[in-house]
Amino acid sequence: MALVGEAPGQWEVVNKKGFTGPAGKLLDTLLKLAGIEREKVTISNILKCQPEKNKLPAELSLAIACCSEILERDLEGISTVIGLGNIPLLALTRQTFITKRRGSIYEIANGRVFIGTLHPAALLRSAFVKGEDETKVLPKEVVVADLKRAKEVDEGWNWR
Ligand code: URA
Repeated sequence: MALVGEAPGQWEVVNKKGFTGPAGKLLDTLLKLAGIEREKVTISNILKCQPEKNKLPAELSLAIACCSEILERDLEGISTVIGLGNIPLLALTRQTFITKRRGSIYEIANGRVFIGTLHPAALLRSAFVKGEDETKVLPKEVVVADLKRAKEVDEGWNWR
């Protein structure tokens, strides 16, 4: 199973490892709640460099295409891909709006299955995590449910 994010941020550039900053810390908690061992999953990103000023490149499709060979190498032997956020959803399924598509299962290239969920950074930005406004929730339970579903699919659950 692989978790694929959007692009490395400042922490990931320093640590040379995906999801090692605040979003990574939250991801660790979510994985634990879903019963997934981080050490047993591949962690990758669609884009391989930190975008300038952390803004997505204007030529996003080109950037995705440029990085796709490295991603493919990262995904060798992987049958289930969990996409975190909109960019993996777009890059791997050509779909948009992760909030609508999360939890759905897609068959993608090279015999793989894709399940998208919300990006942990989105949860960190949300009032849910800050506990400020309960009407603006992006519940972490939703992400945990998506991760559990991906695990079941990877373990052979017949979802078709
Ligand atoms: N956000 C991502 O999408 N990927 C990382 O590796 C870190 C933060």
